[in-house]
Amino acid sequence: MPFKQRILFLLLLSLILVPFRDQAPVYSQQRDTSDLGVASTTGVVVSASDLASDVGASILHKGGNAVDAAVATAFALAVTWPSAGNIGGGGFMVVRRPNGEAITIDYRETAPGKATPTMYLNAQGHIERGLTAAGYLAPGVPGTVRGLEMAHKKFGKLPWKDVVLPAVKLAEEGFIVSETMARGLNGQLAGEMGKFPASVAAYGKPGGGKWAAGDKIVLTDLGKTLRAIAVDGPDAFYKGWIADRIAEDMAANGGLISKADLAAYQAKLRTPVKGRYHDYEITAMPPPSSGGVALIEMLNILENFDLKKHDRFAPETLHLMIEAMRRAYLDRARFLGDPDFTDVPIAKLLSKDYAKTLAASINPAKASSSVELGKDIVTIAQVRESDETTHFSVIDKTGMAVTNTYTLEGGYGSRVVVKGAGFLLNNEMGDFNKKPGETNERGDIGTAPNLIAPGKRMLSSMTPAIVTRNGKPVLITGSPGGRTIINTVLCIILNVTEFGMTGRQAVDAARMHHQWLPDSTTIEEGAALEPALLRLKEMGHTIRQQGRQGDGNSIIVDEKTKVAYGVNDKRNGSSKASK
Ligand code: DON
Repeated sequence: MPFKQRILFLLLLSLILVPFRDQAPVYSQQRDTSDLGVASTTGVVVSASDLASDVGASILHKGGNAVDAAVATAFALAVTWPSAGNIGGGGFMVVRRPNGEAITIDYRETAPGKATPTMYLNAQGHIERGLTAAGYLAPGVPGTVRGLEMAHKKFGKLPWKDVVLPAVKLAEEGFIVSETMARGLNGQLAGEMGKFPASVAAYGKPGGGKWAAGDKIVLTDLGKTLRAIAVDGPDAFYKGWIADRIAEDMAANGGLISKADLAAYQAKLRTPVKGRYHDYEITAMPPPSSGGVALIEMLNILENFDLKKHDRFAPETLHLMIEAMRRAYLDRARFLGDPDFTDVPIAKLLSKDYAKTLAASINPAKASSSVELGKDIVTIAQVRESDETTHFSVIDKTGMAVTNTYTLEGGYGSRVVVKGAGFLLNNEMGDFNKKPGETNERGDIGTAPNLIAPGKRMLSSMTPAIVTRNGKPVLITGSPGGRTIINTVLCIILNVTEFGMTGRQAVDAARMHHQWLPDSTTIEEGAALEPALLRLKEMGHTIRQQGRQGDGNSIIVDEKTKVAYGVNDKRNGSSKASK
């Protein structure tokens, strides 16, 4: 073809193609199938700790179902992932049976009987932040052991002992410390945890010095406690000698948790919240987690837009996601708390009509103002929440699916190890609104639904979720990350359902977070997004790239072949999908 004609041809071709440029989502074009995750038709467990995932998988091999594997994984994480795996904290589990029946187990901590709405305020009426950061006033009544008991009683196939003993063995016989754990423990022992002798006794390196990757750690007291839970049952923890140890420790150090609090603790079976996003169904955690409600509210808002029109990371897409996040997190602050103590307008928050009105309030070209939208509940800013929780996902050969997120709240919780019992207590009380009536510039929310009351569960953001289509599981997911959790889960779900990503791509892709206040967005480093971010700034967004968001250990199921792919989150070097 002569040169002039060739130029003309290329010009014409580019004119034809330009209008389509924005229409194809990046990831569906670049479907990289070299790493789909760990493929299995017999079941897979994906958690933050390779050792714990292996325990879960070994339970599947023994004929256990997904719940047996989940319970065993949770106990193992309490040994191998001490920053967040726990028996001294709480969390949420969603279980979906192959017949479609789904339930959730709420084993969130409760405020002790002696707790009061102003217990963290000093004489000047200011919040004493140190009191919920660490120490004996920080913990809520732990829920994990009752929660796992409930899951096992309702669905487990193997004997209780069989699913707890692998964790006992890890604690008693010891295991190899990973790089992450060595770094975490060394930092903690040199800092807050070093202030508590029982914590140093449990986690200090015998003979002194620093932990290094490759060292072996033996957790003798934790092993004893877990053995009692395995052999004598959960009552050993709530009514027996372990309860005695907790109550003694509390009484000796100014803490509030009593034997009566422990004896009264109950896990709760709750009906999941459900939503639809196009032809996908979302099954997730109801209050006292805000996760499911906020997630479905965001998806409902976004369903009003043609997201596929632009790339996943086009400014138009990111703008709509931020605006959906802003509105759902405002409602979270306004309405959400423990449903046993406060009326949460769940039906309204989940309704498509309500989402339509919210979607209509979004200007496609301009950022909204968070303060303006939320001026009825007062003003500015948000509490910075810590990033230590852990999520795991399980599916078994029958298609039974478990998604579980549990936590000590901050990394290593209150940093307090119960003397003679070897386990860390949570610092979950910090998730309550600590100063009634004040939603302030510094970042505290003071709205009524989440104020402290005896026996009440503090509001959570944990979002274990299961996505199905045509009655079959498609995605089992969740993440740690404090308030970022809901947005991490939103990103993963949209990546799969809207943008056609593989599980690996969906979990790897850069995540974003906006939580109403502060009125700013963070997006993970690593993605080359400068032009998009520039455009968002022009639209009025405050946005910056920073750090890593979440640890979304997930499972994606190929709807045609029924193969499940376990996708660990590579942001955490210890995570693993085991089958
Ligand atoms: O329940 C909550 O939402 C928080 N306590 C979770 C804390 C958390 O995720 C920290 N972790 N990564």
